[in-house]
Amino acid sequence: MIGKAIVVAVDGPSGAGKSSVSRAVARRLGLRYLDTGAQYRAMTWWMLRHGVNVADRQAVTAACDKPVVVSGTDPDDPAITVDGQDVAEQIRTPEVTAAVSAVAAVQPVRDRLIALQRQIIAAALAESDGVVAEGRDIADVVYPAAASKIYLTASPEARAERRNAELDGADGSDGEGPVAEDTLADLQRRDAEDARTTRPLEAAPGAVVVDATHLTLTQVIDRVVELVEAVRI
Ligand code: DC
Repeated sequence: MIGKAIVVAVDGPSGAGKSSVSRAVARRLGLRYLDTGAQYRAMTWWMLRHGVNVADRQAVTAACDKPVVVSGTDPDDPAITVDGQDVAEQIRTPEVTAAVSAVAAVQPVRDRLIALQRQIIAAALAESDGVVAEGRDIADVVYPAAASKIYLTASPEARAERRNAELDGADGSDGEGPVAEDTLADLQRRDAEDARTTRPLEAAPGAVVVDATHLTLTQVIDRVVELVEAVRI
C-alpha cells in the first residue's frame, strides 16, 4: 500500500468515455474499480427478466430489494452478477439501455445501490490502495469525501461518435453502423432522462472538468492520472 488509500470519483454523461478512462486509471495506479452504472443496469436486467413493469414506480420499489447484485472491482475483469448469474453481456443490450433511466429514477433503487456502493468503497479503502468509482453522482452523493473528483465530459457529437464506433465494433461488422443522428438523439434523450435524477451535465462542487472532445483516450487517461497523483499523498 502506497500512502493513504484514495477514492477517485469519475462522473459525467453517457458516452464521455468514463469506463475506459476509469479502468485504465485504476490499472495504472494499482486501484480497484467500481462501475456503478453496471449496478443500475443489473437491477434493470433483473426487473425485465422478472416481468416487472419498469414504468410503474411502485412495482419497481416493491421488487428492488430482491435481486442480489454483486460487483467485482478488478479493473481487468469487472465482473457483475445478479443472484449469482454473470450478466456482464446481458446488461449492455438495447432493451436494458432503454429501460435503465426509469429504474434509476426510483429512489428506493438508488438508496439500495448507493448503500451497496458505499460498502464496496469502504472495503476497497480498507483492503487496497483505493478505488476509482464511476457514475453520475459519486462526487456529490455517494462519496462526497472523495479526494479526487473528476467530471469527464465531451460534446454531444463527440460522445455520439464514440458510441457509434463502439456499436460498430460490438457486432463485429465492418458495414454501416447506426445512423449518427439516431445515436445523437438517443444520447440526448438519455441525458434528459438521467438529468431528472442525477446531474450528468454539471460538475459537482470541487470536481475538475476534463473535456475529452479534442483529446485522444491516452491523453485523457494521462490527464486524469496526473490529477489523481497531485492529490495522492
Ligand atoms: O454509465 P451507464 O450508461 O452504464 O449508466 C446506466 C444508467 O444508470 C444511466 O442511464 C444513468 C444511471 N446511473 C445513475 O443514475 N447513477 C449512477 N451513479 C450511475 C448510473
